[in-house]
Amino acid sequence: MKTPALPRKRKAKWPVAVLGATGAVGQMFVRLLADHPWFELRELAASERSAGKKYGDVTRWLEGAPPPAAVMSRRVIACDPGVVTAPIVFSALDATVAGEVEAAFAHAGKFVLSNAKNFRMEPDVPLVIPEVNGDHLALIDGQRRKRGWSGAIVTNANCSATVAVVALAPLHQKFGIKQLFLSTMQAVSGAGYPGVPSLDILGNVIPYIADEEPKLEREMLKLLGAYADGEIIDATFKVSAHTNRVPVEHGHTICMTIGFEEKPTPEAAIQTMREWKGFAATEGLPTRPEHPLVVTDALDRPQPKRDVSAGGGMTVTVGRVRRDAVLDLRMVALGHNTVRGAAGGSVLNAELLAVNGALDSA
Ligand SMILES: NC(=O)c1ccc[n+]([C@@H]2O[C@H](COP(=O)([O-])OP(=O)(O)OC[C@H]3O[C@@H](n4cnc5c(N)ncnc54)[C@H](OP(=O)(O)O)[C@@H]3O)[C@@H](O)[C@H]2O)c1
Repeated sequence: MKTPALPRKRKAKWPVAVLGATGAVGQMFVRLLADHPWFELRELAASERSAGKKYGDVTRWLEGAPPPAAVMSRRVIACDPGVVTAPIVFSALDATVAGEVEAAFAHAGKFVLSNAKNFRMEPDVPLVIPEVNGDHLALIDGQRRKRGWSGAIVTNANCSATVAVVALAPLHQKFGIKQLFLSTMQAVSGAGYPGVPSLDILGNVIPYIADEEPKLEREMLKLLGAYADGEIIDATFKVSAHTNRVPVEHGHTICMTIGFEEKPTPEAAIQTMREWKGFAATEGLPTRPEHPLVVTDALDRPQPKRDVSAGGGMTVTVGRVRRDAVLDLRMVALGHNTVRGAAGGSVLNAELLAVNGALDSA
């Protein structure tokens, strides 16, 4: 990670908390925030089952080196805005509780960066992939007026929607998507911990993920929509999604077939994706990879085993861009579900808010 100075003449790091810190996404937040140049991980919160206990005792650390002993020995606190002191909270809460808890934090004046589905499709709530639609953060002022809270809720998208949209954004901006078929192969870590029972997923493919297909279809249109006069005008192309759970640890792979208003050749599509830099204000942010989108020429890539950690897990890798006999183009995209599709995307949202001045009062 690069270590840029604090933005806007800020003198100290912003104190932050993680809600749902014990889960799969929560752990990724802890990993990304443990040594962040702008944010100081002050509090770890989870359910009443975990509150009061040491983080290391209630968290089954899922991968890599665990965080420093000082973090593992910290007491978990309740997800209560009266208990959490940090003005900025990253939420990795289960959707069954996220709606109520996140609203309570926003009412208490906290800035909530959420991974849960509950608020994503609310018209006044930004649903943001910073390099794609960072300008949608402008919804926050209207949200505060409408809801009468001094805090705010900013969401990031479903993990598959994020991977697909990073790959599609440059093509939609240049050629206009008209129709899209996509079929996902989603990693088990996307189901959280403990997630899918091992005997259900080992040596198997499950062609159903509850609520995933409509979520993916709806969110893509909002993400690729345009901000105008305080609202988002959704993109209008037709989209049809199949979602499958596969026995892969991390990384969602998505096969896409795309029809365009202006039909690009595969070469033009590849060049467009390779030249794409994304929303300019995100360049240089600590969590933004140098290349949010990479196109490989290898015939048998991308693969989760080989490509999921590109750009520290923040780069989406596209391959197999070719003509299609039914629509116009086919291609495959791959991205890390708990980094790019969850915690990393949320931290990048917070960094963009920090340089925009939205966190100046926090
Ligand atoms: N996994 C992914 O790839 C991914 C990607 C994008 C978005 N998301 C979304 O991110 C959120 C977290 O997903 P996950 O995969 O990390 O799930 P997870 O592993 O099941 O973790 C859920 C977290 O929520 C906490 N929690 C559960 N009930 C609670 C309650 N009543 N009060 C307070 N905290 C409670 C749990 O705390 P305890 O340990 O104390 O029970 C745990 O920390 C979900 O909304 C999910 O849809 C996940």
